[in-house]
Amino acid sequence: MAATAIDLQPYASLDDATCDERIRKAKAALGERVVILGHHYQRDEVFKHADFSGDSLKLSREAAASNAEYIVFCGVHFMAEVADIISRPEQVAILPDMAAGCAMADMADLDQVERAWRELSSVLDPDETITPVTYINSAANLKSFCGVHGGIVCTSTNARNILEWSFERREKVLFFPDQHLGRNTGYRMGIPLDEMVVWDYDQPMGGLSEEEIRRARIILWKGFCSVHQMFQPEQIENFRREVPDGKVISHPEASFEVCQQSDYVGSTEYIIKTITAAEPGSSWLVGTELNLVNRLHNTLAREGKTVQFMSPMVCMCSTMFRIDPQHLAWVLENLVEGNVVNRVSVPDDVAENARTALQRMLDI
Ligand code: 13P
Ligand code: SF4
Repeated sequence: MAATAIDLQPYASLDDATCDERIRKAKAALGERVVILGHHYQRDEVFKHADFSGDSLKLSREAAASNAEYIVFCGVHFMAEVADIISRPEQVAILPDMAAGCAMADMADLDQVERAWRELSSVLDPDETITPVTYINSAANLKSFCGVHGGIVCTSTNARNILEWSFERREKVLFFPDQHLGRNTGYRMGIPLDEMVVWDYDQPMGGLSEEEIRRARIILWKGFCSVHQMFQPEQIENFRREVPDGKVISHPEASFEVCQQSDYVGSTEYIIKTITAAEPGSSWLVGTELNLVNRLHNTLAREGKTVQFMSPMVCMCSTMFRIDPQHLAWVLENLVEGNVVNRVSVPDDVAENARTALQRMLDI
């Protein structure tokens, strides 16, 4: 019988150095039974303990390939759900702080998407004409919806390939929850802006006319990431004035205008690879989350590269930031004692169809 779980409360008063030591000790005791996955936006005090780091796509592949009994996901809730869905049934996915959600993922829920599907069916037959595509930043039941309706999951790395796959099957795409990733990717594929309409989930028929729906190639959900929305074209203009030979790189969750003015656009993994491979001495303005940009700034300064954050404001992913060394120490020490705390477990019926949509993506 499992022992009583260790209480979280005393961990709140531990300092980071003590947590660091206790995390290392617990990890050593668990050995290969545990794998820690760390998203690039994690703070350094947590990130340094990750066995694997990466963007959403890379980490979902690591979760699928892992043999560990426990997958501790230092990221946000949807990432731990993906780990649970694509790992084997006996593996356990854990999120150190259950409050680490993704505000953008919360902008689309199943009721709203099902209502959109019903409303669209008054204009056309969605199951014949629309491929639903959900960004991986979404709840498991939306991935399941895509699995049931011939749809698929995408990440910021593979969005273009996924949209190509989708258009080979049906003439339109309903893309949720991030309008910016959908628009930026669609435009780069040659789809004109007026053939991408925004579905406002607070309005009947998404606030669109029948004609607009019939003409649209991509119906974009009105979701966004508040971290990436902070970046503005003027910040790029100022940088270009000050550093004329500098380069600008942005995440595709940034606005259309910002991405249009950037020299490079891609996922967190792409951003890291591009700047790491750049000429020593080069200068970069980066439009993505602050923890990642600070890490690049510090590591690449040694090569004489200048890495600058795009916004004058602090744009951190506050939900990722909830995963701290205190919570990580707490979940690991509980595992050492034989207690699973903060398990993320997707119900079987949801997981089965969500797996279908995720597998379609992983197969591409
Ligand atoms: P990546 O897949 O590029 O890591 O992006 C995930 C995310 O949430 C960015 O805000
Ligand atoms: Fe979600 Fe934005 Fe945080 Fe990414 S940065 S996890 S999209 S809230």
